[in-house]
Amino acid sequence: MIEPRLGHPNLGLGVGLRTVHYNYILEKNPKVDWFEIISENYMDSGGRPGYLLDQISERYPIVMHGVSMSIGSSDELNFDYLRKLKKLAERCGALWVSDHLCWTGVAGLNGHDLLPMPLTENSLKYVVDRIRVVQDCLERPLVLENPSTYVTFTKSTMPEWEFIARMAEDADCGLLLDVNNVYVSSFNHNFDPVEYLEAVPHERVVQYHLAGHTNLGTHIIDTHDGHVIDPVWELYRLAHQLTGGVSTLLEWDAQIPGFPVVHAEVLKARRYMSLDEGQDDSSTTESPDGVGLDVAQIRSHSPLVENGKVTVPHPAAFVVAEAE
Ligand SMILES: [Fe+2]
Repeated sequence: MIEPRLGHPNLGLGVGLRTVHYNYILEKNPKVDWFEIISENYMDSGGRPGYLLDQISERYPIVMHGVSMSIGSSDELNFDYLRKLKKLAERCGALWVSDHLCWTGVAGLNGHDLLPMPLTENSLKYVVDRIRVVQDCLERPLVLENPSTYVTFTKSTMPEWEFIARMAEDADCGLLLDVNNVYVSSFNHNFDPVEYLEAVPHERVVQYHLAGHTNLGTHIIDTHDGHVIDPVWELYRLAHQLTGGVSTLLEWDAQIPGFPVVHAEVLKARRYMSLDEGQDDSSTTESPDGVGLDVAQIRSHSPLVENGKVTVPHPAAFVVAEAE
């Protein structure tokens, strides 16, 4: 039996809160276990975004997920940012606060891309020290997500799974295991995703992310623009077995369909839990809200293809659009 992660509960199956779904959620009160918000979309927002978040956080558990902490940057930590983050967590009663193992800018500039770190002894010590400072400032454990990456550093001396495992132990932080990111990076860098999942400290995994991506043949871009593919679901099944099951969240950031479709996608996760227990898996693609879903419409959803060309927007582009 694996102990609860940093005391955090398994919230069940949640959905990333996106502005296009505000009205549906507030009118229909869908039976969603929990929502994850993008922290930056609310940190400097009073007015309508804050009001809507107040409404939703009164009805659902909320978890905060940030994209600008830049824990791996050579810049000083931004304490003004951290103060705002803490204030928002108090306002919405966030159960935990997460961000990415990455850097997003340097020299005070935010590039809005989640860029990889060199994986060395020095960078490990550097990021561990910064995580400890952040945790002291926030007065709660930080939860960090494995990024999807497209380049590596020749000076790296260890695989990402070893870096993340040692980081979590040394900094005493939590992990957000993005199963799709493991798949994307394993494809891009030709490593074994199963080895990755087996190596991370399972008792520190607080949450999973699931998402769709765009496969361009030579590499995969983490576009969050469609359904979760079967190999990623199979990795989720393994992760579920290894951890005993933790809070699971679907990210859908581009070509966003109606809320019932997004919600139904995360509910598919039940199949990959129930099969472990020998149960029937035939119960999904049914709307959680009692709204009949068009299965053909779900299946026909495809990556962004216009005039035969694949366009590949980065998810951060949509975060910025929401933040503005
Ligand atoms: Fe993610």
